Order: sequence, then C-alpha cells, then structure tokens
Amino acid sequence: MISSSLTLASFAGVLALAPTALAGFSASSSSNVAVYWGQNSYGQASSQTRLSTYCSNSELNIIPLAFLNGIKTPITNFANAGDNCTLYAGTQLLDCPQIEEDIKTCQSQGKTIMLSVGGATYTEGGFSDSTSASAAADNIWGLFGPNTAYANRPFGSAVIDGFDFDFESTTSNMVPFATELRSLMDADTSKQYFLSAAPQCPYPDAADNDMLNGAVAFDFIMVQFYNNYCGIQSYTAGSATQNNFNFATWDTWAKQTSKNTAVKVLLGVPANTGAAGTGYEPISTLTPVIQYCKQFSSFGGVMMWDMSQLYENPGFLDGVYAALITGGSGGGGTTTTAPGTTTTAPGTTLTTSTKTTTAAPGTTGVAQWGQCGGTGYTGSTVCQAPYTCVMGSVWWSSCQ
Ligand SMILES: *[C@@H]1O[C@H](CO)[C@@H](O)[C@H](O)[C@H]1NC(C)=O
Repeated sequence: MISSSLTLASFAGVLALAPTALAGFSASSSSNVAVYWGQNSYGQASSQTRLSTYCSNSELNIIPLAFLNGIKTPITNFANAGDNCTLYAGTQLLDCPQIEEDIKTCQSQGKTIMLSVGGATYTEGGFSDSTSASAAADNIWGLFGPNTAYANRPFGSAVIDGFDFDFESTTSNMVPFATELRSLMDADTSKQYFLSAAPQCPYPDAADNDMLNGAVAFDFIMVQFYNNYCGIQSYTAGSATQNNFNFATWDTWAKQTSKNTAVKVLLGVPANTGAAGTGYEPISTLTPVIQYCKQFSSFGGVMMWDMSQLYENPGFLDGVYAALITGGSGGGGTTTTAPGTTTTAPGTTLTTSTKTTTAAPGTTGVAQWGQCGGTGYTGSTVCQAPYTCVMGSVWWSSCQ
C-alpha cells in the first residue's frame, strides 16, 4: 500500500516517474484485471513461464496463483512451474524459492497476489466439522500468511495478499474455514488482505453458496461466465434485459445477499479459444458485453483463465483493457480519458493524452483493434473510418 504520509503532490510526482503505479485490487475500480497463473492451461512447455514474467504488464493487477488443491492435507500444484520447486520431505507441499522471489517482485510492482484454493482436482469435500475447518484455516494461514517462521512454507518469506476460493464440487463446513481465514486476515493490520471466490455463473453456485449466501465477507468474486448457459456467449447485443447471460443476477446478489454489499463482481472469461468448453468470445464481441456490465455498480472488472492462454492470444489483453478503461463501445470514439488528464487503471497510470485521430471516410488506415500508437510504435496513427485511436496503455493504442 502507498504510505498515507505522502502528500498529494509528491504522490502525483511518484506516479509521474514510475512506469507502473502501485495499484492492486481496488474496491472502487470497475477496471480490475485478474489473470490466473499456475496451471499452464495452454499446455505447452513454453506457454507458462515464471510469475515475474507477467508482473511488468501494466494491464493486469491481480494474479491468483492456482492451486492449493488440498487443504486438510495441504497440496500445492503449479504445473510446469513446480519443476522449479522441490518437495518438502513428508509433505505434498512444494518449496518454491523462485515463486517466493517473484511474489515479492510482483508486489513491488503493485500486483495483488492471491492464493487460489480448490480447483477441479480438489477432492477433500471440505471438513467433517467446524473445529477441523478452523484448524485447517490456521494451518493455511501459517503456510502462506505473515508468520514467516512457520514450517514448510511454499513461498518462504513471501506473504500473499489473500485467498481465492475456486471450489467446483460440493463441500461441507467451508463457512467456518473461510470465517477463520477472514478473521486472521482482518486481525493483521500490517497490510490489507483480500478474500475472493470464483463461482460458476448458474445462481446460486453449487459449490460456494453456503459462503456466498451472506455468511462470509468477500472483497470480490470472479464469476466464471463460461462452460454454462449463462455465459457470455449468451449475451444478446443491444438488449437491455438478458435472457440467459446473468450478470444482473450476480449484481442483485452483491447488493441484497452478500455479507459485504460493496463486493465487486468481475466478469470471468476464457482468455483463448481453447481455455474453456464454451464462452470464449473475441474482443469484437466481448467488448459490448463489458460495456453492458458497466451499468452495474458492482461491476469490478474482468477475470481471465488463464495466463498461459492469454499470452498465446496476442491482442486479447489489450482489447479487454481498452474496453474497461474507455467509456464507449467498440466503434465509438469516446473515451473517459480527456486529453492531458491522468487516469488510474489496473496496474498503471496513464500520463499522456489520448490520441483521437480519425481518417476521413474512404481513406485507408489501421483496421479496428489494430495498433495505432504506443511507446516504440512507428506505424500509422490513422484509423479506418469510423474508428478512432484510443489509448489502452502507454504501450498500446488501438483503433476502436
Ligand atoms: C523455471 O525456471 C527457469 C529458470 O529461471 C525460468 O526461465 C522458467 O520461466 C521457470 N519456469 C516456470 C514455469 O516458472
């Protein structure tokens, strides 16, 4: 967190100098970008590299590490990143000095690093009673929280920023587990911790509902709008009311059912064609969905599964980021960033003015979603009509 002793002027000065601002999850932002790392869903040896590779990217600000997929018996699994770890003797916990180093690097770059608990391979089904659930929470807090002297810590002296629950099958006694973790996090005032969950879009979520149903205070949830009838593929463009795509239902959950009524709801999407069974939409059709979601005050940004898929899908993150920080829908020319003003967006601060060059009708130029500006870019800054060049980050402007 940024020291509150900084004056506004010196704060602004720091931001002007720093290429990446200190900005992790923000409860007041509707442009958070969370991308899961750890499972190498794309599946190539080269498609998931070390965590720090991704933290210099100013277009994302939350990285849940996937997964802790055993709790009673703690089990860590980070796919090929586990090859850079060793096993603690007599446990199923990995000792990962590289991830330890990278968590600190990422946090110094303003990223919020969550540990995601569960995943599709979590098979414990929760806990037999609340006492064992609470004891397991104490152990998990020891393994990943601020007590760096605890034994067998997978990330050594690095302290994560919170926990994410990604349960995909029914569980028992998760409420006492989550409640204990929440109280441990809240009792440590040395830094701010977050609790998130990743329910699937059918409401109520089978696996997480006992926690979501008013029992546990979450800071944000990342709803998986894929692999289900209620996913983003069901969005009907231009329709104020939606039949199957159910972001509105989750907005109502946030305001009426959630224990924390200021909870943020992130739109969870697949980051590439093969990242989910259904629900992948390219930027041209995802952008209107994002614009639709912005009408809901609970909307907190976008979650993507997962980093490996995203980095094999050039332009996708830029497109999502542009849709989040600009006010207009794809094809419109409006932007929330007036020339010369500063906008704080996930992980970055924009300090340069937005270019709004439009080609005269009939002339050639950069096509929709093509690059038209950014540091180091030397190509055309003129967009084909009717698109305008919209700044996504200091590195990227595109025709929208
Ligand atoms: C494993 O370590 C090597 C050497 O530092 C690094 O280049 C690579 O990205 C790491 N792999 C993963 C998946 O973290």
